[in-house]
Amino acid sequence: MSKICVVGTGYVGLVTGTCFADLGNDVVCLDVNETRINNLNNGKMPIYEPGLEQVVSLNKKAGRLNFTTDYKLALDKADFAFIAVGTPSGVDGEADLQFVRSAAEAIAEIVNHPIVVVNKSTVPVGTGDWVADIIKKRRTVIGTPLEFSVVSNPEFLREGSALSDFMEPDRVVLGSTNREAANKVAQLYSTLRCPILVTDLRTAEMIKYASNAFLATRISFINEIANMCEEMGADVQEVAMGMGYDNRIGHAFLDAGLGWGGSCFPKDVKALAHMAVLHGTHPQLLQAVMDINRNQRRRVIYKLRKALGNLDEKVIGVLGLSFKPNTDDIREAPALEIIHLLENEGAIIRAYDPQAMESTSEVFKRVIMCENPYKVAEGADALVLATEWNEFKQIDLKRIYDLMREPIIMDGRNLWDPEKVISLGFKYFGVGRGAYPNGENNA
Ligand SMILES: NC(=O)c1ccc[n+]([C@@H]2O[C@H](COP(=O)([O-])OP(=O)(O)OC[C@H]3O[C@@H](n4cnc5c(N)ncnc54)[C@H](O)[C@@H]3O)[C@@H](O)[C@H]2O)c1
Repeated sequence: MSKICVVGTGYVGLVTGTCFADLGNDVVCLDVNETRINNLNNGKMPIYEPGLEQVVSLNKKAGRLNFTTDYKLALDKADFAFIAVGTPSGVDGEADLQFVRSAAEAIAEIVNHPIVVVNKSTVPVGTGDWVADIIKKRRTVIGTPLEFSVVSNPEFLREGSALSDFMEPDRVVLGSTNREAANKVAQLYSTLRCPILVTDLRTAEMIKYASNAFLATRISFINEIANMCEEMGADVQEVAMGMGYDNRIGHAFLDAGLGWGGSCFPKDVKALAHMAVLHGTHPQLLQAVMDINRNQRRRVIYKLRKALGNLDEKVIGVLGLSFKPNTDDIREAPALEIIHLLENEGAIIRAYDPQAMESTSEVFKRVIMCENPYKVAEGADALVLATEWNEFKQIDLKRIYDLMREPIIMDGRNLWDPEKVISLGFKYFGVGRGAYPNGENNA
């Protein structure tokens, strides 16, 4: 059993801390956000993540998982300090490292025993060395050296399936200049029976960015093909299927739609491109990947205009607000950008999401939040499916048809069967469904 402090109790920190506690370690999760910690101490979850609440409660009861805002308490006798704070986009697309810096400084100020500092936040290549420098410099000022090592341990979990991603990872990546420290961190994962790749610090940091950029590239690639399919009369769903059966390609991340969003891909692709430019290379592919993604949202507005003409005072229903199903995270969600563009054109938005209406209301005050998809459809001139929550799969489309003013469906996730939608009388627009040019032809 190890004593672990996790600095930052957001999606990654909370899942990491909880899972390490579940594996039998003694974990303290720390955050500077008092409300978040008070809520966790009172059994209230700060995020929606399937299954997490039960595992948190179980491990709290067992005394293995604690929450605090007190750095001293959290770091007391800790063998490991995992840094899992946010690294949002800065003004120029660079990763803003202010939270990593303050976490590193706090560790340097407080700890007086040997410790392994583990970077779990997604950080630019070179940050591990930078963190080590910050700690060393602080200790020089304090006057007592600290025995510590920095290990990079990028996180690959996906919101919505974070627990199983942590417990059954495809791989664990560890980077360090100190092999012994990397091995100590490897021990924490040893019961998970997954490949553990040990590299140097910078390589580990790059693996995280390269992985996210590659996945984003696959999505932008299929979206570019989807746009061609729309013009050339092909069906991108079948194209992706046909491609995916090739073992060299595979099926994952070949779903055409409204593009990638969330707290990671947008900021990480931007940060990697920014790093590349700073180092004198030309990230042309990454730029194209970002451009395609931006256009994918704009195409929805274009298609709606094509179907409805001027969008001023048109009522548009939006189903799904979170950036993907099974999360309440709305950071860089396609739905939000689409709502923003529609509101700019004077449209009135009615929306529903199983988890993300409260947070969206804080950003978009004029959006009319509805208690279910049918309320969204009432009097709507078009319905945009933005997030493919399971509960939308079996929706009663006939009832939706009867409730709408204009039966126009913009299936941004290719969730529904176009033939069925068209047979009910809708004008159907999917993404890359050129084989069903019903909406496009009738618009
Ligand atoms: N969310 C994901 O799906 C995901 C997946 C893989 C990697 N990551 C990376 O993990 C990191 C964390 O992401 P997240 O989504 O969990 O962020 P988040 O915004 O949900 O949580 C970050 C938490 O850190 C806290 N914090 C900030 N400064 C602090 C400090 N000095 N001391 C203590 N707490 C502090 C904040 O209050 C917040 O609760 C990011 O670098 C992100 O890119 C995220």
